[in-house]
Amino acid sequence: MKTKTVLTPLQKPARLVSVSGSLSLTLGLSLISSLMLTGCGDSGGQHTQYSASQSDFDFRIPASVPAPFVPEDNPMSIAKVELGRHLFFDTRLSGNQTQSCASCHEQELGFADGTALPTGSTGEVLARNSQGLLNVAYNSTFTWANHSLTSLADQHMVPLFAEFPVELGVNDHNKEEILLRISTDTAYQQMFTEAFPDEFAGSAETNATDVINFSNINKAMASFIRSMVSFNSDFDRYEQGDETALTESQKRGMAMFFSEKTECFHCHGGFNFSQSTLHSQTVFFEAPFFNNGLYNIDGNGSYPSGNQGLYELTGKEEDKGKFRPVSLRNIEVTAPYMHDGSVDTLEEVIEMYAAGGRAPTTVNGVPTGDGRLNPNKSGFVGGFSLTEQEKQDLLNFLKSLTDKSFNQDARFSNPHQ
Ligand code: HEC
Ligand code: HEC
Repeated sequence: MKTKTVLTPLQKPARLVSVSGSLSLTLGLSLISSLMLTGCGDSGGQHTQYSASQSDFDFRIPASVPAPFVPEDNPMSIAKVELGRHLFFDTRLSGNQTQSCASCHEQELGFADGTALPTGSTGEVLARNSQGLLNVAYNSTFTWANHSLTSLADQHMVPLFAEFPVELGVNDHNKEEILLRISTDTAYQQMFTEAFPDEFAGSAETNATDVINFSNINKAMASFIRSMVSFNSDFDRYEQGDETALTESQKRGMAMFFSEKTECFHCHGGFNFSQSTLHSQTVFFEAPFFNNGLYNIDGNGSYPSGNQGLYELTGKEEDKGKFRPVSLRNIEVTAPYMHDGSVDTLEEVIEMYAAGGRAPTTVNGVPTGDGRLNPNKSGFVGGFSLTEQEKQDLLNFLKSLTDKSFNQDARFSNPHQ
């Protein structure tokens, strides 16, 4: 019974949505558009077929779980993943060499960073909470709320090149210098050559530095992020037949999670605990966004200005406060919670849903309004009452989704140490 409940791929009727992998909505950078025009690959958009490509790389996933979707223009390879790992942890990729991707994505914290809002390499505070990076390969769209960001390699352009606010601070002035830092390193020359053998082979004229460019940097980092797949939590062991992997309390909490009382599974269902899931056997693309009642400034459904979720891209009133229902895997280690890190603990998250949204409070001194009355709030966030024991059971179940092996796995660790 448990297997059927949990592994139902999608609880809602799927709908076909056409997508275009354009970043220009969020970033008006000429550099990005020119890179995309010149065929910066890893296209997640224009999905016609979600086949898993053949390669020497093994995702090491259980047979019950579908393989992640891998775009045809960026097949997985051991060499590319390894190169991506080196780049992910390399501070030379930021303009002033102070930050790497790992500055905001720390392995022991499920690749989140433990702060409400991260600070970029030049000191600017970002508006959104750093996301954990487990099973990102299965997300239909990337980041907290961007329906058009369907390609991982495009996603990486954001932290690299973003100007408002600056993250790693790569720009038109320093990008040649940054490439030089990488391309003059003989270890990287070797790694790029091995990671992109097709581009390198066949011409006596090609030398290693020719394949060291931002398009290939992004492809390698996308392959690394895509490789960060794991199904090794206590919950997974239980799914695979080990009845002792979950405590009695966790089993009760699981039943609660998948019940019509709490409704959690409607938005955080399926094998990756998110309705926004895409994999190699996906037939219909689905990328839902929901308002879970965190804010209601002025009583008109508004969230804090400039951080209103999907609305920032569509301009539609009904999209105010709509965000991606993120995966709950590793949730225990990725506090604080929500798109702006405004909920400190999982206990508070459960209280918030039990109340049917966030009751009036202040975040950073600013009144939230009564989120429970947000007109855009999903009908699935209707509130419920649980005993203290039941709340504890639900909390314990959420903790069974922690993948301790992933947070220490040498395959995803810093290679420069
Ligand atoms: C200054 C902090 C910071 C740095 C540096 C940073 N990130 Fe992030 N990352 C974030 C934040 C914040 C988000 C959520 C962004 C949003 O929703 O707008 C995020 C989101 C992501 C996501 C989307 C995850 C998902 O589930 O959709 C990926 C993938 C990612 N980052 C990879 C990277 C890579 C690769 C680098 C290095 C090139 C990097 N990040 C550098 C803060 C950072
Ligand atoms: C209507 C869909 C919906 C339902 C039902 C729902 N959630 Fe969520 N959940 C979301 C969305 C959307 C977000 C992100 C919201 C944001 O950041 O503003 C979220 C965020 C979360 C987070 C924080 C994730 C993070 O990485 O910070 C947790 C934890 C969570 N939900 C747990 C639950 C639990 C437990 C239940 C059941 C009691 C539940 N959710 C029910 C849609 C839903």
